[in-house]
Amino acid sequence: MNRPQSIRTQLLSRLTWPLIVVVILDASASYFVALHYADLTYDRWLQDSAKSLAQLVKTKKDKLTFELPPIAVDVFRWDDMDKTFFKVESEASGFMAGDKGLPSPSIQSRGNEEPFFSDGDIQGQKVRIVSVLTTPTETSGDVLISVAETLNKRSGMMNEILLAVMLPQILLVCITGFHIWTGINRGLSPLNDLAKLISQRSAKDLNPIPDEGVPLEVRSLTYTINALLQRLGSTLDTQQRFIENAAHQLRTPLAGLKVQAERALLADNLDTMKPALEHIKNAADRVAHLSTQLLVLARSESVSHSANEFKAIDLIELARECCMDWVPKALERNIELEFDAMTTPVRMAGNEILLRELLSNLLDNAICYGNPGGHISVKIEPAFEPKLIVEDDGPGIQTKEADKVFERFYRIPGSRGEGCGLGLAIVKEIADRHGARITVGSAKQYGRGTRIEIVFQAQ
Ligand SMILES: Nc1ncnc2c1ncn2[C@@H]1O[C@H](COP(=O)(O)OP(=O)(O)O)[C@@H](O)[C@H]1O
Ligand SMILES: [Mg+2]
Repeated sequence: MNRPQSIRTQLLSRLTWPLIVVVILDASASYFVALHYADLTYDRWLQDSAKSLAQLVKTKKDKLTFELPPIAVDVFRWDDMDKTFFKVESEASGFMAGDKGLPSPSIQSRGNEEPFFSDGDIQGQKVRIVSVLTTPTETSGDVLISVAETLNKRSGMMNEILLAVMLPQILLVCITGFHIWTGINRGLSPLNDLAKLISQRSAKDLNPIPDEGVPLEVRSLTYTINALLQRLGSTLDTQQRFIENAAHQLRTPLAGLKVQAERALLADNLDTMKPALEHIKNAADRVAHLSTQLLVLARSESVSHSANEFKAIDLIELARECCMDWVPKALERNIELEFDAMTTPVRMAGNEILLRELLSNLLDNAICYGNPGGHISVKIEPAFEPKLIVEDDGPGIQTKEADKVFERFYRIPGSRGEGCGLGLAIVKEIADRHGARITVGSAKQYGRGTRIEIVFQAQ
């Protein structure tokens, strides 16, 4: 499972990492620059020392001498932090004075480069060495003077530079980090407040979330939630009304059932009991019909446009089968039921059970409200948007009633039969599920009557 990403952590890492990288780069750059100049200073001092020793190389009677009194050696070597070494050697006679163990470059390899700096070690200590050449007379040959010093002063200075450079940088990171942290927390607090506000709401409170205190960036979210709450509210209202209506509709036939049952109980023989039993049967039929219709409506509401509930079907085949089922009912009223469609199948995605229910309700109405001894025609038009048309030559539906008949439990006053006003509501619900449009008009082919057209989406 993916762990939810935290905005706080993301912001923090995105803001802090660049800062840390910049600080590290900056600190190392300043450190190396300072180090370079410190080295330059100490190297120059070493070089000066070597040059002053070079002054002491003389020639006496064609012999090279180097004279440094012991007291002067002490002064030369004196330093409370570092040890200083020196070595004087000539091309002709080799080692002349100083520390024999001090590594130095060979005189021949010296070339023109002067002074010559190198790193080495003596008595187990690392040293920085500088070597300079001097030639007292033309015949005496070259003399190489090397001076070396341990690195304590240099590393002490490095540490001081490091501290001086790093301390302010660390402080800077801490202060900036603190401000980023508090800034992010403060920035995110309206979101937490909003979450708290919503979690504290009662389940019945569908009022919109107020705009006060909600930052601009979060408003699109609250607007979406508010729109959802509004839709939820109207759905709940519709359901509430539907339940009230359903209960009301069920109460009437049930009350009738009770009255007739009481009357039947008072009768002392079967003949007087029969009319009451007849009424009981009719009332039971109505209750059964009503509950079936309610179930169909509930089922069509819960169907979603998903692949396992919508399958490829042939509209012509489905309509033909459905018409066959309704032929006996039509014959009872002496109505001729005509089916008109091409032989090539009209394929579309749909829910077979619901589409049968849709056509059954249209046929039920056409047979119930059409003229006895009249005509009904069911037609499939295989256009880009396939059409299902049901026409009858009955009294028709007046234009002012055309919208109302699709409302739940609405019946045109004075309508015949025992309907409960859910038939066309079911038709509308199922058409909506399939993204189809419904139009109500008059059946022109008969000059009068009802024409109901269901136009399905382009397949
Ligand atoms: N084919 C039709 N011809 C005339 N009136 C119709 C037709 N179909 C429906 N109606 C009218 O529309 C109303 C609503 O129909 P419906 O929702 O099926 O409810 P019900 O049939 O239970 O009354 C009916 O009461 C009827 O008056
Ligand atoms: Mg009906």
